[in-house]
This record gives sequence, structure tokens and C-alpha cells, in this order.
Amino acid sequence: MSIFSSDVFKGQHALVTGATGGIGRETAKVLASMGADVTITGRKEQVLNELKEEIESKTPNAKVMRYVADLTDTSDRENLVQAAEDQFGAVSLLVNSAGMTGGGILEELTQEELERVMYLNHTVPILLTQRIYKTMKKDKKGSIVNVSSLSGIRGTYGGTAYTGSKFALNGFTQSFALEAIEHNVRVNGVCPGYVDTEMGRNGIRSKGEREGHSFDEQFKIESEKLPTGRITNAEEVANTIAYLLSDAAENIIGENIILSGGSVMR
Ligand SMILES: NC(=O)c1ccc[n+]([C@@H]2O[C@H](COP(=O)([O-])OP(=O)(O)OC[C@H]3O[C@@H](n4cnc5c(N)ncnc54)[C@H](OP(=O)(O)O)[C@@H]3O)[C@@H](O)[C@H]2O)c1
Repeated sequence: MSIFSSDVFKGQHALVTGATGGIGRETAKVLASMGADVTITGRKEQVLNELKEEIESKTPNAKVMRYVADLTDTSDRENLVQAAEDQFGAVSLLVNSAGMTGGGILEELTQEELERVMYLNHTVPILLTQRIYKTMKKDKKGSIVNVSSLSGIRGTYGGTAYTGSKFALNGFTQSFALEAIEHNVRVNGVCPGYVDTEMGRNGIRSKGEREGHSFDEQFKIESEKLPTGRITNAEEVANTIAYLLSDAAENIIGENIILSGGSVMR
């Protein structure tokens, strides 16, 4: 359900990472429906093509550029930003949604896996933001949302790598928000609990395996645990990101908005 009008981001350029995944995909759709020109990126070309087609069919005036990039690759990142700027001009809205889980309990955690998770979930958003911020700062205009996690504000079993990376991302959001606001660039984050996407379902599946439950059983357990009785869907996260990006959230900076179906109270 959209609660936003179609001209909120008119004339603005949004770059959404992780657009081949559940949350990034919905975010790209919402931002396009709000009038932004949207650059979508991920590693899966076919999924990007389908998303571009879907957005263009639903939002007739939408302008969408797709760019395949592995964000852990320095030149891919640079080429992505360059291509995006060539196509739609300076990026004024950035959503850092690409991410991965991984790691496991400390005894089984390898250095390689720890570094992989930390690099994609923490270092990559910083480096990509650093590149795009140059222009935002010059233009004195920009809004950024980092997609973090409930795991970024409380520990999780086996979460040394993933949870650590999201705590670190929240630290980036808060610290950078202070620097950036001096240049009229707002920085915020979202911290969802389980979201009904491939990543969320895989997380629930793994937890079920650990606790001796089928996926369906664990999905029900995780849903019923929440005061709302259900896990969050990707569109709800996308709407929150869109709100934070918009001028309606003008005096909100350095916040990490929790979307957890009320789990923080339990
Ligand atoms: N789902 C949840 O339960 C949940 C809860 C809290 C927070 N989050 C966070 O929300 C964000 C999005 O998650 P999601 O649920 O949408 O997950 P998802 O469906 O698994 O999507 C993950 C996205 O990250 C991209 N990605 C992974 N490695 C990449 C790389 N090296 N280079 C470029 N892109 C890469 C994937 O692109 P390709 O597949 O094309 O490579 C995909 O678009 C993540 O940061 C995640 O930590 C998710």
C-alpha cells in the first residue's frame, strides 16, 4: 500500500543497492512510484531486467537504470556510480541495502567468513557512501538510509559476524549523520527483525534446523512470538525507507528505526 504521492522525489535520483533482493526491490519500486529516477544494482542481471520492466509497466513515467555490480569490487563500485551519474545526474538519495548473513558460532567462524560479512555489510556501505557524499556535499543536498537489522541493536546466537557488522553499520549511521548534517545531508537507518524475503526465510529455516522444527513450524513460531502476530514484509521496510529519505523526515537524523512487529517489548 502506498501512502506517498507521486511527485515527492520528482527530479531526484535514487541509487538502491541490493535491488535484486527483497527489501531493495520493494524500495526501488516505492521510490520510482514517488517520482525518483532510480538506479538499481545487484549481481543478478536477469532479476534487474525483470525489476526494471515491472517498474516501467506499473509507473509509466518512471526512469530506471540497471547496473550489474559486485559491490565488493572497487572498480565495480566506481563504475556503478559513474554510470548512474552519467545517466541521471548526481545521486541525491542513497539506499544501502545489499547485505549478507554468514558466520555462525564463534568456534566455527573462519577469518575469511568474518571478513567477507564485515566487508559487505559494513565497509561497502561506507565506501559507496563516501564516493556519493562528495557530490551530495557539494550540492548541499542528500538523504541516505542504511539497511541495518534488529541484529544491529541486540546480540543473536551465532551472530558474531552478522550482528557485529550491523552494530558497526549503526555506528557508521550515527557518526556520519553528525558530519553530514552540516552539509544538509541526512543519514538514517532501518533495523528490521525478520523480513519475509529470501534472506529472512533462510534465517528462519536455519533456526528451525537448529531447534528441530520444519520451516513452516519455525515460521509460525517466529510470527506468533511477535505482538503483531506476523513478521514484517519488505514493502513495510521500503515505505519506512522512503519516509526517512523524504523531507517529511527533515528533522530526523542518525536514527535507526526498528521494524519488529513489537518484538522489542518481548
Ligand atoms: N530479510 C531479513 O530478515 C532482514 C532482516 C534485517 C535486516 N536485513 C537486511 O536487509 C538488507 C536486504 O536484505 P534482503 O532481505 O532484501 O535480502 P536478500 O533478498 O537476500 O537480498 C540481498 C541483496 O544483497 C545483494 N548482494 C549480496 N552480495 C552482494 C555483492 N557482493 N555485491 C552486490 N550486491 C550484493 C544481493 O544481490 P545479488 O543476489 O544480485 O547478488 C541482493 O540484492 C540486508 O542488508 C540485510 O542484512 C534483512
